[in-house]
Amino acid sequence: MPELRPTPSSTAPEVEFISAVNVRESSELHPRPGSGVDLAYLRRYARALEDGGFDYTLVAYGSQSFDPFTVAAALSQHTERIKPIIALRPNTMYPTVAAQQLATLDQLSHGRAVVHIISGGSDAEQASHGDYLTKDERYDRSEEFVEILRRAWTETAPFSHDGRYYRFDDFGPGFPTWSGTIPVSIGGSSAAAYRVGGRLGDIFGLWGEPLADTREQIDRVAEAARAAGRTDVPRIWVTFRPIVAATDALAWEKAEATLSAVEAAHASGFLPRRLRTSGRPQNAGSQRLLDIAARGDVHDRALWTRPAQVTNAAGASTALVGSYETVAAAILDYVELGASLVSVRGYDNLNDAIDYGRYVLPLVRDELAHRRATGRRGEVVAQPPLEAPKAAKADALVTA
Ligand SMILES: Cc1cc2nc3c(=O)[nH]c(=O)nc-3n(C[C@H](O)[C@H](O)[C@H](O)COP(=O)(O)O)c2cc1C
Repeated sequence: MPELRPTPSSTAPEVEFISAVNVRESSELHPRPGSGVDLAYLRRYARALEDGGFDYTLVAYGSQSFDPFTVAAALSQHTERIKPIIALRPNTMYPTVAAQQLATLDQLSHGRAVVHIISGGSDAEQASHGDYLTKDERYDRSEEFVEILRRAWTETAPFSHDGRYYRFDDFGPGFPTWSGTIPVSIGGSSAAAYRVGGRLGDIFGLWGEPLADTREQIDRVAEAARAAGRTDVPRIWVTFRPIVAATDALAWEKAEATLSAVEAAHASGFLPRRLRTSGRPQNAGSQRLLDIAARGDVHDRALWTRPAQVTNAAGASTALVGSYETVAAAILDYVELGASLVSVRGYDNLNDAIDYGRYVLPLVRDELAHRRATGRRGEVVAQPPLEAPKAAKADALVTA
């Protein structure tokens, strides 16, 4: 195993894991008709995430989906630790109202609320809720929205605002959060996303791209943060759909079967409108994934782009395929690159979350604990160095 030596800043990077909540038992792998919420399933799913060691769960949003606030409130009352990440589109709610709702959720959950600001990647999807701004305008609006959220959580006296998208007089003082503020995540892969997320995000969300492309995006976000005069950078969140099994060979067999099921689900129109596109998608994140898929099916240690190809890169659509060890090693590659939040959501939602919690998360955490304790790459996960992208190490540990 190659040695690692600690840089002066010393400790190995930490990682936290994210899932995505499901309100009933239906997935691309096992599509079930209907659209209701199954509270028993939601509760079971959320508890499985906590038992498995997940830290957060995204409560995604689409014009045809359930309401993330209500789901997150229910989830928070059936769990103790997991933090719901509310996906929120600024066009759906006035920012002062959003601030109150998020603060209420934060109080109800004893400080567990997180918000992920979605500027909207499809004009048609936005128009279905009466939003006719261009994508760049939507990012500008997100910027104003986040600034208002933060003020609403912290101002101690009424305040007024007269901006480009929002105007109000004497709001508040608003409803306080549990512990001062609520982490704000911003996602996307366009220049506007980097600009707004780099300036205002506590977290920046990315889809799962090859290491070199991920590093390029991390650099763009850091550049934007610097340009905005920040002395810190947003935490980086990367997103994958892992397909794991006891051995690499078994995982690849499972991957091929999964791909056929996903393809069939998409062909049957199973997915909600926001994830159904034809032609070149409008959002930069999906465009990038399709271009990456055109460069090859497998990248780095385990990144598989075929699911992106068959879904027109709808949402989270790249997989990590391999044994528990291979996938843990692949996740560690991204942690070394600087990602500290890793979203792993499977295709057989609940069972995959249980598998990750049992077999993958502990490997990643144990390896990082070993590195922190010794300053050396351990053998919890066999992780032979990769070529070029690994050359640019995370701050904390470098290959000797
Ligand atoms: C991790 C992550 C989670 C996202 N979750 C959602 C979601 O729940 N609903 C949605 O409409 N868009 C979601 N998005 C999409 C974006 O936030 C963004 O609005 C869109 O991709 C526009 O992007 P662009 O900057 O890549 O062009 C998500 C993006 C990322 C990276």
